Amino acid sequence: MKIVNTIEEVRAIVKEWKDNGLSVGLVPTMGYLHEGHASLIKKASQENDRVVVSDFVNPTQFAPNEDFESYPRDIAHDCAIAEENGADIIFNPSAEEMYDSNATTFVNMTGITEELCGKTRPTHFKGVCTVVTKLFNIVTPDRAYFGQKDAQQLAIIMKMVKELNFGIEIVPCPIIREFDGLAKSSRNTYLSTEERKAALILNKSLNEVKKMIFDGEKDTSVLKAKLTQVIHTEPLAKIDYAEIVSFPDIVPLTYAKGDFLVAVAVYIGRTRLIDNFIIENGTEK
Ligand code: PAF
Repeated sequence: MKIVNTIEEVRAIVKEWKDNGLSVGLVPTMGYLHEGHASLIKKASQENDRVVVSDFVNPTQFAPNEDFESYPRDIAHDCAIAEENGADIIFNPSAEEMYDSNATTFVNMTGITEELCGKTRPTHFKGVCTVVTKLFNIVTPDRAYFGQKDAQQLAIIMKMVKELNFGIEIVPCPIIREFDGLAKSSRNTYLSTEERKAALILNKSLNEVKKMIFDGEKDTSVLKAKLTQVIHTEPLAKIDYAEIVSFPDIVPLTYAKGDFLVAVAVYIGRTRLIDNFIIENGTEK
C-alpha cells in the first residue's frame, strides 16, 4: 500500500488503473480508523479491483467552536488498518493541498441538510458536500462507501450524486458496534471511563423504541417521548435531538410509516455522539 499526499499523484495512479480497465472503490474518511472504517475498506476491496482510502480531517466541516484541532489523528495506525483490509492507496493530503486559501466554490444543499445534525451544525454539510465532491473529482471512483452511522450524511451524498449526475455508485454499509452496543466512532476516544458507560444510553434508547415500533406503535410523538425519557435517565447525557424522519428524504414524520430513520444525537459530557436505526419495508435495514 502506498501513502500519497498530492492530488497529482493520486490522479496519475488512478489513470493508470483505469487505462488497464480496473475498477476503483473510494472510502472517504477523516482517519483514526476503527472497525467501522475497516468494514468499509474490506467491502470496497471485495467489490473493486483497486481501493483508495482518503484520510483527511476536513476543516470546512467543523464550525469554529468544534473539535477540528483536537480531532484524533494517527496516520501510522490508519495505514496499518487500511493495508490489512485491502487498500491500495491511502490519500492523506494537507489542507493546503485540498483547498485554495481563498476558495470561493462550495457545494451547498438545501432542505435535507437543514434537519437533524444540520440544526446544530448549520455549516457542517456544506463542508462535507464540498470535500466529498472534490474527492470524487480527484479519485473518479466507480463506487464510494459510506457508513450508516452517519445516516443523514449518507442520504445527502446519495441525493447529491443523483442531482449532480456523478456516475458513482454509493454503497451504504451497516453500523459496526462495540461488544456492548456502542456504535464505533473516532470520537469515542474522547470518553472517560464513566462517560463510556453513560454513552450506552444512545443504543439503549433506540432499542426500546425499536421494540415499541415492532409492537405496533406508530405515533412519532409517543416514540420520541420514549427516546427522550430513556436518555434523560442518564445524568451525563444531554440531548441534541431525538428524531424520526423519512429515509432517505429526511423529512420529519407524524407517523412512523414507510421507510424511516430513528436518529439521536446526544452530548455525553462534552462529546457529541450520534446513533440510529433505519426501518425499510417493515424490517430493520
Ligand atoms: O464521515 C466522515 O468521516 C466525513 O464526513 C467524510 C465523509 C470523510 C468527509 O470529510
